[in-house]
This record gives sequence, structure tokens and C-alpha cells, in this order.
Amino acid sequence: MNKILLLPGDGIGYEISQEAKKIFSWFNDNTSIKFEVEEELIGGASIDSNNTPLSDDVLDKALKSDAILLGAVGGPKWEKLDFQQRPERGLLKIRKELDLFANLRPALVFESLKDASSLKEHVISGLDIMIIRELTSGIYFGEPRGIIELSDKVKKGFNTLVYTSDEIERIARVAFEISMQRSKKLCSVDKANVLESTELWREVIKEVSKDFPQVELSHMYVDNASMQLVKNPKQFDVIVTTNMFGDILSDCASMLTGSLGMLPSASLGKIDQLSNKRMAMYEPVHGSAPDIAGKNIANPLAMIQSIVMMLKYSFSSLRYSNMLQLAVEKTLAKGFRTQDLVSSNEQNISTSIMGDKIIDELNLMKR
Ligand code: IPM
Ligand code: MG
Repeated sequence: MNKILLLPGDGIGYEISQEAKKIFSWFNDNTSIKFEVEEELIGGASIDSNNTPLSDDVLDKALKSDAILLGAVGGPKWEKLDFQQRPERGLLKIRKELDLFANLRPALVFESLKDASSLKEHVISGLDIMIIRELTSGIYFGEPRGIIELSDKVKKGFNTLVYTSDEIERIARVAFEISMQRSKKLCSVDKANVLESTELWREVIKEVSKDFPQVELSHMYVDNASMQLVKNPKQFDVIVTTNMFGDILSDCASMLTGSLGMLPSASLGKIDQLSNKRMAMYEPVHGSAPDIAGKNIANPLAMIQSIVMMLKYSFSSLRYSNMLQLAVEKTLAKGFRTQDLVSSNEQNISTSIMGDKIIDELNLMKR
């Protein structure tokens, strides 16, 4: 029995989690892979009930689970809270405490969605890239940080961009290993012309590359990379980058695919030598979208594809992972769209109907 901790969080996180539950139930009823899903609070929902964005109890359950699936956190209701009390801190804390340092964010253009992007079809058709973002260090966690008063009139806000060579080395190894399973092309994105911490980044990436001679390695400054992603995204296969650059570039990459509502992600820790187990959390790249929350119109496909990644990376079940991915592809090919994707000639359906359509496809595939 695989223990899943489901953390719906806030906003549309709740609705897309209902669709995720349908998928787990389907696997339980129809296949040999079994899931036990426990649901808990994180983010604003946890603040409202427990006065903290992530309670110790939930953190403990996360540590004991086989995989975590998270919806989204945040919303205007909690924006005025003190910085350390906001919903986002719950997400950052769980990433840090579980040491989920490798964030995989694939951007894939579905054949049937190639006209949904704001970019020209020939630029994005067939696109399949993977952004690997360092997730537990860099400027997000560096010390010192804070806001201090310099005088009555002047305040100073500051953060620190810091990387140690071992933090860079471990994310580099994940990136090279994933490149080996894909087209053996890796682009490391930094700002080595200006920032010492990323000069070290480049140095360590080059060092690690000696262990992966088959991988063609290139380096790019982040400003150029953001331009190249829009100009000619198909030049990339795997991109590896720092925490903040990865945050920005992955939002940019998501738009190549037509909708932020389509992108899943996996956040992986290191493999435990004894149990061979790896801590992992899966979540859509999109946020809690408070403007559309509760309307049953959100796109659940990033969440469902997060389960596709879970099946592959946590449960080594390529068969079921591919099956679920195919169900998503077939549903889109039939013209079913949530409102974020709909153009003409397509059927605009709700969040819950989209979940049902995926189940229909799974049933059709069942032998
Ligand atoms: C993301 C989000 C988070 C981040 C926020 C919600 C803290 O933007 O996962 O990309 O900045 O990492
Ligand atoms: Mg982001």
C-alpha cells in the first residue's frame, strides 16, 4: 500500500485535489497498484485552523508518507499577515525540511494544444523541455536576510544569494542523469558574469560534467536564456538552474505550452541508501488562483499530470504513468477543454467533468 499525503491547500487547490482523488480511486479499483490517501491542511487553510501554515503534525505525516501531492497555497485573505506567517512559508518549510532539492518542471506542448500558445505554432510545436530548479538553497533561503531600519527615514531590505559547492554538485548530478535519459543535451543557466555564487555554480557544473562525457553541456546567462526560451525554445532539452532563476524561467516556459494550468512538477530529495526510498512531493506549477476558486472552472490537468510524475519517480511504474499521460492526451485530442484552454470548436467543460473525462479514457484503456 502506497501512502499518499494529499495537501489541497488554498484556492483552486481544493477543487483540483478532488479530481486527483478520483484518479487514485480508479487505480485502487482497477489495477494492482494501491494507494492510501490521507488529507491534511497546509497554507492559509492551516493558518485558519491551526494558526500556522504548516503544523509539526502534518510535517511528521509528510516524512512518513511515500509521496506527497500538493494543490496550491496562498490568497489575498492572508497577504497582510506577517512574512513568517504567510501560507507560502508552509510550502517553503516543507521543501526545506524534507530536503527536496531537485525540482523537475517539464514543459510539454501537446499536439492538440499547439494553437493555444501565444507563440507561433512552428516555434513551439513538438516542444518537450525539462527545467531542473535547485529548490532548497540560493536566495530563497540564504542568510542574512531581513528588513532593518537604518535611520528614522531609511530602511534596508536584503537577501543573500548563496550556494555551496556540494549543493551545486548534487543538483548537477540529477540534471546530468536526467539528460542521459533524454537527448543528452544540458544547458546550465547562471549569471556568472556578475554574481560570484553563480561563477562557482558554473565551475562545479563543469567539474561534474567530466563524469558525463556523453552529455553535451552549454552555459547561458539568465537574461539571454529568458530571451532564447521565447525566441527558439526547441534549442533546449534539459535546463539546470538556481532556485530563483528556475522560478522565473519555469513560469516563462509554461506559457510556451499554452497554459500555466498544464504544468506539473516533482520535487525530489536524495535516495536513502538503506531503504532505497526518496522523499518526494508533487505539485502543479500554477498557484491557488483565488480569482477563479470555488467556481469549478480550474484546469485539473497540471494536478493530474503531477500524479503521472509521481507514478514514474516515486513508484517506478512507467506503465501506469504512461497510461495516465495518454488519458490526458486523448481527452485533449477529443476537444475537451477547461476555460483556460478553450478557443473555438472545442467543448468548454468544468473541473469535475474534466476529471470524469480522464477516468472515461482510463476505462477505455483498461484491458
Ligand atoms: C513556485 C511558486 C513558489 C516559489 C511560491 C508560491 C513560494 O512560485 O513554486 O514556483 O516561489 O517557489
Ligand atoms: Mg513560481
